Amino acid sequence: MSVPLLDLVAQYQTIKDDVLAALMAVIERQGFIMGPEVGRLEAEIARLSHAKHGIACASGTDALLLPLKALNLQPGDEVITTPFTFFATAGTIHNAGGAPVFVDIDPGTFNISPPAIEAAITPRTRAIIVVHLFGQMAVMEEISPIAARHGLVLIEDGAQSIGAQRMVDGTRRMSGELGAVGTLSFFPTKNLGAWGDAGLMVTQDDALAERLGRLRLHGGSRQYLHEEVGTNSRLDSLQAAVLLAKLPYLAGWTEARKQNAARYTAAFTGHPDICPPRVDPANDHIFHQYTIQVPRRDELQASLKAKSIGHAVYYPLALHLQPCFAHLRYSRGSLPVAEAAMDSVLSLPIYPELKREQQDEVIEAVQSFYR
Ligand SMILES: Cc1ncc(COP(=O)(O)O)c(C=O)c1O
Repeated sequence: MSVPLLDLVAQYQTIKDDVLAALMAVIERQGFIMGPEVGRLEAEIARLSHAKHGIACASGTDALLLPLKALNLQPGDEVITTPFTFFATAGTIHNAGGAPVFVDIDPGTFNISPPAIEAAITPRTRAIIVVHLFGQMAVMEEISPIAARHGLVLIEDGAQSIGAQRMVDGTRRMSGELGAVGTLSFFPTKNLGAWGDAGLMVTQDDALAERLGRLRLHGGSRQYLHEEVGTNSRLDSLQAAVLLAKLPYLAGWTEARKQNAARYTAAFTGHPDICPPRVDPANDHIFHQYTIQVPRRDELQASLKAKSIGHAVYYPLALHLQPCFAHLRYSRGSLPVAEAAMDSVLSLPIYPELKREQQDEVIEAVQSFYR
């Protein structure tokens, strides 16, 4: 039996009627741009994120780019972030006119290390972007005070962490709740995926919400009057309709991901070679990815491929080693924890519709490789 890494067709079969009806309502109305679905989605996601405002935009990449543009970065301005993330986290810093400064990660959770952030702060530092990688949050109770102490803007890249929570000073906090801005991606493979590109920003700040809303509409608060230069980063009404129709299913999907993760972890715990993901006890992990660490990772990959078992390496080359950032002068050895992670991680199928027999097959295939 082959097991895909993700089965969006299986999900489609369960939600088809709801989503197609929602799409047809937009199509019958022929209202494709900034229709009421966009405002409804913004309100729903803001509520889910315990945020005052939601501002939808065209992608998770733009959800990072727009708040970075709002910083008016000058040449030489620095933004501290993690090298162990999807490219957009750092690419947007560059595209907003800043220089990414990469710091190392925690070896257990793969999230950015708070002491490493503090050590990298210079007079040119303007902001910090944390990534809540694979679905569990970074150590916000340490990072927020660092940002506050140094007057830095804190952005939460929550592309992979919709609905994730963390106990912070005795209170449950949502992904996106504590930063100046929290971002989301609704790329189709995300826990809540659109049928194309889509993203959203959340914030508690009234003035920033207004500014971000403007920046996604060519910098104008009303038609043909432009206070500043923005871009076209609207979210299509059709995508908002898809997301609103899927949203009621999200809690159930998250629960199924957690159960799948628990089954894997029960099977792998104590194995001499297979290291299951470490969940920080303060976190409610939503398992966008289930990522193990293993020796001889590339050989295991080949063996899984031969058995048609889906898997992926997120991420095979940390961002400080990407050719486009060679001018930043990092090299192998600069950030050893991130480099060890990129050489040993492997993500396994964790999607909600994964069947028990399929999961057993994945477990057996991984275990048998090390026998
Ligand atoms: C951590 C992270 N940041 C940013 C993005 C960018 O989102 P998008 O693909 O919607 O532009 C992604 C997703 O692909 C991501 O995983």
